[in-house]
Amino acid sequence: MATAELAGKHLVLGMTGGIACYKIAELTRLLVKAGATVQVVMTEAATQFITPVTMQALSGRPVYTSQWDARVPNNMAHIDLSREADAIVIAPASTDFLAKLAHGMADDLLTTLCVARECPLLVVPAMNRQMWANPATQRNVAQLRADGVETLGPDSGPQACGEVGDGRMLEPEAVYEAIASFFAPKVLAGRRVLLTAGPTFEPIDPVRGITNRSSGKMGFALARAAQQAGADVHLVAGPVALDTPWGVFREDVQTAQQMHDAVMRAVPDYDIFIAVAAVADWRVDHASDHKIKKTADHRLPSFTFVENPDILAAVARLPHPPFCVGFAAESGDLDVHGEEKRARKNVPLLIGNLGPLTFGRDDNEVVLFEASGQTKLPRADKQALASTLIAEIAKRLPDTSLIS
Ligand code: C5P
Repeated sequence: MATAELAGKHLVLGMTGGIACYKIAELTRLLVKAGATVQVVMTEAATQFITPVTMQALSGRPVYTSQWDARVPNNMAHIDLSREADAIVIAPASTDFLAKLAHGMADDLLTTLCVARECPLLVVPAMNRQMWANPATQRNVAQLRADGVETLGPDSGPQACGEVGDGRMLEPEAVYEAIASFFAPKVLAGRRVLLTAGPTFEPIDPVRGITNRSSGKMGFALARAAQQAGADVHLVAGPVALDTPWGVFREDVQTAQQMHDAVMRAVPDYDIFIAVAAVADWRVDHASDHKIKKTADHRLPSFTFVENPDILAAVARLPHPPFCVGFAAESGDLDVHGEEKRARKNVPLLIGNLGPLTFGRDDNEVVLFEASGQTKLPRADKQALASTLIAEIAKRLPDTSLIS
């Protein structure tokens, strides 16, 4: 997980009454680990679900629950706490709390500091599906959005009450991602990014196939960084065991041909294409529709291979291609092969690495190849590197105002 966006940020984490309070323990841990300082403020109701002692231990700071807290010398906790904050996050945000916020009420410490704030306010609703669907709640949420309050979620699914529907709180990891995203520089605001990631799987028969060791981590990290940078992101993913980055639209495929078709269908709507997938170069012509059996005389099966389409080259050849970025994993002579590949695929930017050394790892070291020359970037964690690469891509984009 990236830490860059949250390091040094000061957050007021407001908790209101709801069973989802127990998930805020994990959210607090993630935020603190990322280098944020977290000042927890709890309503009276929140303290019925999790103790201030637990939240103090996790945040490393005393928790505030009362407007009349004697620890604040001037008795103005509502002003002091909100002035120091880069943002206030209310999680979980109950039906009642959303109603109070929408009406500007200030009858306890948390509502008062929200009304007195000068910083952004993010709310993470958590409630029963019927309470969420209630027209009054929907009216209040619409009012809050119109007032510039960010709403994160809610999610849909099983609820603590046993019912199923909209209203459950986003998982702590998703809330964390959304907060990190909120602070990331919006260098791709208004841009639409299409990416491929992971390996492809080329079947031989219903149980066997050819694939490769790409983990998909770099492509998923880039999708996440692009989303955080304000882009609308569509990720076409081969078979990988990774969670979809928050806010990213994901389309799963298996084969190179399916990846090609998915990309070609989507690409007219996108202005940046980043091909990170390790696409299989060949597939077996006519995969068997039944499991190929061993024979009594130990005869080996033989296969005819056909070449898969080169997705990146096909996109770069379009009459009005998006800004195309390729990746190349080489086992040696990166300097030579990287530039040769960039020129052959006819893309403005190719990101090269010594692939077999980076598969599955959490860090990477890359070189940027472009017509004007090469730039080596320092070794970094894949998520931090992804943010750097997104910034580098953003710098190289044609000015949309010049495109007819
Ligand atoms: O030729 P090579 O596989 O090394 O090229 C790497 C670049 O081309 C990557 O960006 C990869 O995603 C893309 N590629 C592709 N379709 C292929 C093969 C590679 O899009 N069939």
